[in-house]
Amino acid sequence: MNNIAVIGSGTMGNGIAHVFAQYGYKVSLIDISEDALKKAVATIDKNLARQVEKGSITADVKQKALANLTTSTSVKEGIGQADLIVEAATENIDLKLKIFKDMDEVANPAAILATNTSSISITKIASVTNRPAQVIGMHFMNPVPVMKLVEVIRGYATSDETTKTVMELSKKLEKIPVEVNDYPGFVANRILMPMINEAIYSLYEGVAGVSEIDNVMKLGMAHPMGPLQLADFIGLDVCLSILRVLHDGFGNPKYAPCPLLVNMVQAGHKGVKSGNGFYQYKTGSKELVVADRFKR
Ligand code: CAA
Repeated sequence: MNNIAVIGSGTMGNGIAHVFAQYGYKVSLIDISEDALKKAVATIDKNLARQVEKGSITADVKQKALANLTTSTSVKEGIGQADLIVEAATENIDLKLKIFKDMDEVANPAAILATNTSSISITKIASVTNRPAQVIGMHFMNPVPVMKLVEVIRGYATSDETTKTVMELSKKLEKIPVEVNDYPGFVANRILMPMINEAIYSLYEGVAGVSEIDNVMKLGMAHPMGPLQLADFIGLDVCLSILRVLHDGFGNPKYAPCPLLVNMVQAGHKGVKSGNGFYQYKTGSKELVVADRFKR
């Protein structure tokens, strides 16, 4: 397995392309927007430079990684004869079903079709293809070049062979793969999102302020980011949509999203990507500043 295609060049897509290219795979990065592709390549260049600066890779590895990378705005051309295609498009079920239907038609029949979805059913995605045994979840964590985990999700029909190939491939990227089954939220988000939701409820009910809640988890539980900062980092819209998948999928009220989260997303406050969330990100400084409405 040497040729990889990555569909979607946003934060996750460019991180996934970065890691495969860094470990010597030929990577074709695909997006509908030429502009998005240019930005993605610039981000990969910047993040590789950061690794060179820190001494975790050499300048030669950086050059080779960039040389391994090509871009395309056409799914058919970009996929070519790829052995593995990792879809990392926007988290929208209709979009993902369409991408899988299209790529199933044009991809090499032996290719594995993987999705980086954080919560959409792998079984459902596989059902629109003619190769459900070769469809699997390959859920990377943000920032992809840094985080060690790959959550490998077996759909109802995913074969042992496909699972084994993806587990081994993840290890070649120096990641630690963990095999899980396809139920709402898989494991990562089934555990992470209720924690984030509970942190938002604690703020909503006035138990404590933003910094206090985050400090409890950072200083008390050694989390690198508090749950509210992490929610901003992931995207509040993404957190809300994953909570809805958990709520709908299990029918259990314990997953009901906090009304404060719903309001913030409706108001366009989506965290880092919109410049405002529990913290504000427009100051240009690296220091965390609590958003005005949550200042105490
Ligand atoms: N590319 C390459 N390297 C990067 C990077 C990137 N995009 N981002 C950070 N780094 C490197 C830095 O260069 C630095 O390297 P060294 O350790 O060699 O010095 C290291 O990562 C730490 O970065 P910083 O010093 O800039 O900042 P930090 O110490 O505050 O760490 C963080 C930043 C790694 C993001 C850390 O805060 C963290 O681990 N946060 C939690 C992240 C997390 O939980 N991610 C999972 C989110 S959930 C998800 O993704 C899935 C989902 O379905 C929702």
